[in-house]
Amino acid sequence: MRRDGPVSRLIGAVPGRLPGLQAFLMLLLCVGMLSVAANAAPAHGAKQANVQASQGPSGDYVGTDTCATCHEEAAKGFASNPHTKIAMMHGKSGVTCEGCHGPGKAHVDAGGDASKIFNPAKATAKEVDERCLSCHAGTHPNFERSPHPKAGVGCTGCHSIHAAKTEESLLKAPQPQLCYQCHTDVKPSFSMPFHHRVNEGLVKCSDCHDTHGTFQNTNLRNTADQNMICTKCHTETRGPFVFEHAAVKAEGCTACHTPHGSQNARLLNMPNIATLCNQCHSPVSAGTVHGVGAGSITSTPCISCHTMIHGSNLSQAFVR
Ligand code: HEC
Ligand code: HEC
Ligand code: HEC
Ligand code: HEC
Ligand code: HEC
Ligand code: HEC
Ligand code: HEC
Ligand code: HEC
Ligand code: HEC
Ligand code: HEC
Repeated sequence: MRRDGPVSRLIGAVPGRLPGLQAFLMLLLCVGMLSVAANAAPAHGAKQANVQASQGPSGDYVGTDTCATCHEEAAKGFASNPHTKIAMMHGKSGVTCEGCHGPGKAHVDAGGDASKIFNPAKATAKEVDERCLSCHAGTHPNFERSPHPKAGVGCTGCHSIHAAKTEESLLKAPQPQLCYQCHTDVKPSFSMPFHHRVNEGLVKCSDCHDTHGTFQNTNLRNTADQNMICTKCHTETRGPFVFEHAAVKAEGCTACHTPHGSQNARLLNMPNIATLCNQCHSPVSAGTVHGVGAGSITSTPCISCHTMIHGSNLSQAFVR
């Protein structure tokens, strides 16, 4: 494999996503550095070099237009690809293709010798990931130590640069189909009587998971408090409450709910609410309301009295 040339190292310094102003400044910086480099080159005199810096690629780079002369198919569809922004970074010098495939001069000079160009389709997942991360490590710093690459699923396991099926994020297939291709085991959960409406398009796998790796188990999105994954949508359970239910705070939402789907209403872990509660509260103490007519308590669901089960501002026992 070829080493990255100076141009890709320049690109590599820029993270995938930058706020507008920062990106603009970075662009200016890159153009500046490029023309300095071009000026320093002894090639065709200062004037010529300046023209080259602003209008065409240099060194081992030949530019997109040259690639397009032989690879019409690949180049044609590329106009709407977000990766055309790479070219913008160099005063439109057009090294878009070579940002990923590496410098192409040797390949072109040899009339298209396949062994003289980096082809991700023939490279290992690790080699391709390194190439992608040379620009995207800023937004996905945890990728390399997350479950997907460890199982051999690299960037191109989910993304396709030249034949993406989604306009957004260049995915090989839209969610959740993309995920089901490999995670057949989780698919049935989303057809259970009660489920997050992922198949219906209301909620996405990526609302809860960040497949690019996180500091949490099971690729769950990074948040200071795991419950925030859920409470960003279920705001009414967020609190803080004067009287917190320790179960919600300490064990989290999944102490009582199954996130994907369940046979039980409200996605509860157990069919019987008393059983669910009594995992932690058994037996409920005598001398309270529970002591009077204990029989009726088993037939009355706990939550018909403990209505504010996620926490309350009025009642220590969450009854209002
Ligand atoms: C002079 C014509 C020509 C130009 C210009 C050219 N290529 Fe190629 N390219 C070819 C030919 C021919 C092949 C081999 C096709 C084959 O063997 O199936 C090829 C193969 C490739 C492959 C696949 C290599 C492999 O391992 O199969 C890639 C990737 C590629 N070119 C990228 C580029 C890029 C990027 C540029 C611009 C920097 C470029 N090419 C410019 C003719 C060209
Ligand atoms: C963001 C990275 C990236 C950019 C930019 C890019 N490619 Fe590719 N290219 C890939 C990947 C990855 C593959 C492997 C197939 C796939 O995953 O789509 C590939 C495959 C190819 C192939 C076919 C190799 C094969 O064996 O099928 C050719 C030819 C090619 N690219 C040419 C180009 C040209 C020409 C451009 C510029 C217009 C370009 N690429 C821009 C990443 C890129
Ligand atoms: C297991 C599937 C999967 C793998 C592997 C994967 N991605 Fe993604 N990627 C996604 C999905 C799904 C989205 C859209 C939802 C989201 O943003 O999380 C996405 C979004 C993105 C985005 C746009 C949004 C953003 O967060 O910036 C970039 C850039 C990206 N991925 C780059 C990469 C790179 C680079 C790699 C390899 C280092 C990679 N992805 C590996 C599934 C994957
Ligand atoms: C030379 C730098 C560079 C390389 C290498 C590179 N990218 Fe990108 N990528 C970019 C830039 C620039 C953007 C546009 C960012 C933006 O729009 O904010 C982008 C955007 C993306 C997006 C987001 C599309 C969207 O809809 O937001 C995905 C996904 C992505 N790249 C995946 C990849 C994958 C996979 C690879 C490796 C095969 C790769 N990139 C290699 C620079 C690069
Ligand atoms: C190309 C196959 C493939 C695709 C596509 C894929 N995954 Fe994975 N995923 C795997 C493999 C293999 C593992 C690691 C082994 C395992 O834990 O199942 C994994 C692991 C995971 C894990 C961690 C599981 C754990 O027990 O820690 C989550 C969560 C996950 N994937 C979610 C997703 C989501 C969401 C998508 C779609 C955006 C997706 N995956 C797409 C193959 C894939
Ligand atoms: C509402 C949030 C949410 C959504 C949406 C979601 N997940 Fe999960 N997922 C979780 C949580 C939370 C866990 C951890 C469960 C646990 O630790 O008990 C998990 C666990 C997993 C696991 C590992 C454990 C297992 O059950 O096999 C995989 C794989 C997984 N999810 C894949 C997916 C896929 C694929 C999708 C989309 C089809 C998806 N998830 C949608 C929240 C979600
Ligand atoms: C992206 C937003 C979103 C996220 C994140 C999310 N949910 Fe949901 N959740 C919904 C929507 C929308 C519904 C309603 C579904 C419906 O009506 O079919 C729902 C329904 C539920 C229900 C059933 C409500 C009822 O009335 O039956 C429970 C319980 C639930 N979610 C718990 C969770 C938990 C636990 C998490 C975190 C692991 C979570 N949700 C993450 C959007 C979200
Ligand atoms: C101690 C067990 C427990 C924990 C922990 C818990 N819930 Fe619940 N949740 C329940 C019960 C029981 C119901 C059913 C209430 C009903 O039917 O009136 C419920 C109902 C819900 C509902 C349906 C709407 C409603 O309020 O009745 C949503 C949404 C929900 N929970 C989300 C969450 C989220 C998000 C978390 C984490 C912040 C969480 N739950 C933690 C037990 C729990
Ligand atoms: C995962 C364990 C767990 C589950 C399941 C659980 N709780 Fe709790 N609950 C706790 C803990 C821990 C406390 C705090 C106990 C304390 O402070 O003495 C608590 C406190 C309470 C309190 C307030 C007690 C007091 O004296 O302040 C009530 C009422 C309560 N839970 C009702 C329920 C009901 C009803 C359910 C079922 C819907 C339930 N709990 C499910 C762990 C759990
Ligand atoms: C008929 C209404 C009602 C039902 C049904 C009910 N509770 Fe209570 N519960 C109360 C009231 C009212 C209090 C507050 C009593 C007090 O403050 O002295 C209470 C207090 C509690 C407490 C805290 C004090 C203690 O006794 O430890 C727990 C824990 C509790 N209930 C759990 C449950 C569980 C679990 C169930 C279901 C098996 C349940 N409750 C069913 C009304 C009810």
